[in-house]
Amino acid sequence: VTLEGPPEEAAVIRRARPDDLAAMGVLGALLIDLHHGWDERRFIGSGPQTGTAYATFLGRELERTEAVLLVAERAGGIVGYAYAALEGHDYMSLRGPAGVIHDLVVTPESRRQGIGLRLLTEARDILSRRGAPLIVLSTAERNLTAQKLFGRLGFRRTMIEMACEPTG
Ligand SMILES: CC(C)(COP(=O)(O)OP(=O)(O)OC[C@H]1O[C@@H](n2cnc3c(N)ncnc32)[C@H](O)[C@@H]1OP(=O)(O)O)[C@@H](O)C(=O)NCCC(=O)NCCS
Repeated sequence: VTLEGPPEEAAVIRRARPDDLAAMGVLGALLIDLHHGWDERRFIGSGPQTGTAYATFLGRELERTEAVLLVAERAGGIVGYAYAALEGHDYMSLRGPAGVIHDLVVTPESRRQGIGLRLLTEARDILSRRGAPLIVLSTAERNLTAQKLFGRLGFRRTMIEMACEPTG
């Protein structure tokens, strides 16, 4: 699948490979920092090892048949990724089996070119072909950009997470 259009190069959406993991780890750390910036008491921050640790985590997921890891590649560079997985019954979430979209991120310089939408659409379609009867995801309260993107693909609002510190 290729995207024609600006900037000069086309972006390709494909399955992630082990040699993509380092770049995906850097993007994972970016996702962490973004959320930490929104609410540092709720979301962990990154440190010098976060990119590597995230890459290791995603590498373990890459070996699981239930996981779906896609990257967007442009001119030999990774400009985004999506991470999703098929999951079973989850009484804590009051739901049956579902495909869960865990991560979606595009590098700042490659945004607004349809890459996020394409990654999400492809992840959703793979989960759907594998029999997911439902697809769920969570998005930060402050992440209006992502909410708009998810809304465009037909995701509806179902749950609101709330947080406080035990001391009140
Ligand atoms: C959310 C994110 C993945 C979107 O990626 P993207 O490649 O820029 O998205 P697209 O170009 O496919 O945009 C698709 C649609 O989403 C909406 N959208 C995307 N970015 C937007 C913005 N900055 N403001 C308003 N709407 C936006 C628009 O409806 C857009 O369609 P349009 O460009 O035709 O108006 C990207 O902004 C990102 O990586 N953000 C940081 C990480 C994050 O928030 N991830 C999601 C939570 S896990």
